[in-house]
Amino acid sequence: MRNFCIFLTFICLNAVANPKAPGDTQIAIETQKTALVIRVDKAGDPTVIHLGKRLQNPAEYGLLSDNGKRGEDYTQLYNSAYTPAGARNLLEPALQVAHADGNPSSDLKYVRHETQTVSDGVVLTTVFLKDPQYPFEVKLFYKAYQQEDVIEQWSSIRHTEKKTVRLQKYASANLYIPAKNYYLTHFHGDWAKEMNPEEIPLTAGLKVLDSKLGTRAHLFQPPSFLLSLNKPAEEETGEVIAGTLAWSGNYQIQFEVDPLRNLRLIAGINPYASEYMLAPDKEFVTPAFLYTYSDSGKGQASRNMHRWARKYRIPQGEGNRLTLLNNWEATYFDFNEEKLTALFKDGKKLGVDLFLLDDGWFANKYPRNDDHTGLGDWQENKQKLPHGLGYLVKEAESAGIKFGIWLEPEMVSPKSELYEKHPDWVIKLPNRPEYYFRNQLVLDLSNPKVQDFVYGVVDGILTKNPTLGYIKWDCNAVIYNAYSATNPNPSHLYVEYVQGLYKVLEKLRVKYPTLPLMLCSGGGGRVDYGALKYFTEFWPSDNTDGLERIFIQWNYSYFFPAIAMCNHITDWGKQPIKFRTDVAMMGKMGYDIVVSKLDEKELAFSQDALKTYSRVKDVIWKGDLFRLVSPQTSDMASLLYVSEKQDKAMWFNYLVGNRYREGSQGAIRLSGLSPAKKYRIQEVNVYPGTTSPINGNQVVYSGDYLMTVGFNPAVDARRASVVLEITEAN
Ligand code: DGJ
Repeated sequence: MRNFCIFLTFICLNAVANPKAPGDTQIAIETQKTALVIRVDKAGDPTVIHLGKRLQNPAEYGLLSDNGKRGEDYTQLYNSAYTPAGARNLLEPALQVAHADGNPSSDLKYVRHETQTVSDGVVLTTVFLKDPQYPFEVKLFYKAYQQEDVIEQWSSIRHTEKKTVRLQKYASANLYIPAKNYYLTHFHGDWAKEMNPEEIPLTAGLKVLDSKLGTRAHLFQPPSFLLSLNKPAEEETGEVIAGTLAWSGNYQIQFEVDPLRNLRLIAGINPYASEYMLAPDKEFVTPAFLYTYSDSGKGQASRNMHRWARKYRIPQGEGNRLTLLNNWEATYFDFNEEKLTALFKDGKKLGVDLFLLDDGWFANKYPRNDDHTGLGDWQENKQKLPHGLGYLVKEAESAGIKFGIWLEPEMVSPKSELYEKHPDWVIKLPNRPEYYFRNQLVLDLSNPKVQDFVYGVVDGILTKNPTLGYIKWDCNAVIYNAYSATNPNPSHLYVEYVQGLYKVLEKLRVKYPTLPLMLCSGGGGRVDYGALKYFTEFWPSDNTDGLERIFIQWNYSYFFPAIAMCNHITDWGKQPIKFRTDVAMMGKMGYDIVVSKLDEKELAFSQDALKTYSRVKDVIWKGDLFRLVSPQTSDMASLLYVSEKQDKAMWFNYLVGNRYREGSQGAIRLSGLSPAKKYRIQEVNVYPGTTSPINGNQVVYSGDYLMTVGFNPAVDARRASVVLEITEAN
């Protein structure tokens, strides 16, 4: 308590001692509810003085203390808007550079800033900085999405020095967040165990989230986090920042509680083994760091992210998606034309839109009959598919569904014709034994020839099969023995790999703007908004066990909207098909089962569920998500999706604990409805032969009642999953 009083006194004194001095420049980057305020003092140092709730009177930002400065002797600028290394700063830098003359220090002074409205509701502020001693410039970009309360921040670096400048660290964002305490929720995982949250209080010093895996870079740790300020935020209360880096490769996010107990946050590409030689007049542009601040809990932060992603980032984010039947777990590598055409009919009978042919359809010299061979040889395997993909497309279409395929175009098998022909296209070290991840190696996408090859593979298949309706783009390996045989700057490999991948995807998107593309990486090994600029959806995990999946989807839902989350019903887990279907409905539903093995009730249930889904999917995909009861702290999970007009909602409830008589023993309070509107509640996905205790009820409830008193979805061991459709009563 004593310390806290001293802390408060310090802050207050500081506020009085350091208000905006005459001559200071103040830059307020504002959304509807949030503000990030940068102050430039007379010395020209740009400092972050506020990140949080927007003040009603912007003039009052001038009263904010300059938290990072501490008297005459301390000239380190803890709260720099882009901390340069080597000169006065002794804390973690955002920028570390060796200039052309070898000087390892930088300083960045404010030159000017400009603000422009780039589109309706999107305001871009650019802050221009320059080293006073060198022709070396940094631009800081802040795109503020007004309605969504999301800020997209990145930087660019350029110089006109006589020779190359060595960039040793080049962050996207450098923020400064004063609070009493900080609680970081980060996520760790592995194959089939993605997105396990861990909340920790941040203590003095550095905490780093990072990846050095190169590709499949988020396998162990995604670049997404929640940061609660002062005390741990709940779903609908508390101050929290949700942040995520839009980069599909090595990243680093640093949280440093500084000697003033304020938090310095630096996010960007991981500088590990990635020194970048920047030639004069070239510009290096960093990836975007995206964040949203909420003072009403994690739920609001997620809804901000979802709205932003649907409107501004994910292709067709407010459009349609296809339900599908995938054959991976139904057949693995063991299929032929006859088997597949039978599966098309099964897909049609089930009622899905598309059949997705997974791994194993390609390669002849080294046929892809297991995961040791064939990657890179993207020609139809003549034994399995003698009539080629075109035949399958037609067969599927005449069965009444579309056809899509799996590709893993960034990879190569050591046993492949591609490897034999182009060994120098493969990432490996000349003097080290090859080391495999899932028996494969990674192609060197920093090489423009490899980029052309990968583009050519996908474009070639799409040109030959113009009605091909879907591509699942997989990426199953990490980069071992990182080295490029052709890159003149081998230390550019990690960065230029991702840039090369984005170039390919960009080109494909220009030619095929509406093609549905699934982002997959051996499950959820690559889920970020860099890739989701190109992909319509992502595969969160190979783990499709209904129970496990509730947790995995719950944790992805902090950052990514339901419309982009592919959830398939498979044979994983012990839950009945109803449970698995209900869980899969909370996103983009699909199947990976042998339809012919379903019994009569299972088939009837699934056919009916698909029809229901097609009626309600827009509420799930485009509605606001309210996570009502957390499976992490309770025996139940309860999630509600409410349409923007608040006239419809879909409510999903699950029993996740196994204790005696657990379940929804009382009412659960709803959120996000209109208090004045009246609603009816109907149970859907009722399994054949069972009755719903809810559906006889003709009562009409006000939104006020449902949000104040609540409603009991009657979940118990016999009704372990309950889906309720809520509709406005006229
Ligand atoms: C990993 C993916 O996550 C699976 O769904 C499947 O496509 C396999 N790769 C195929 O090799």
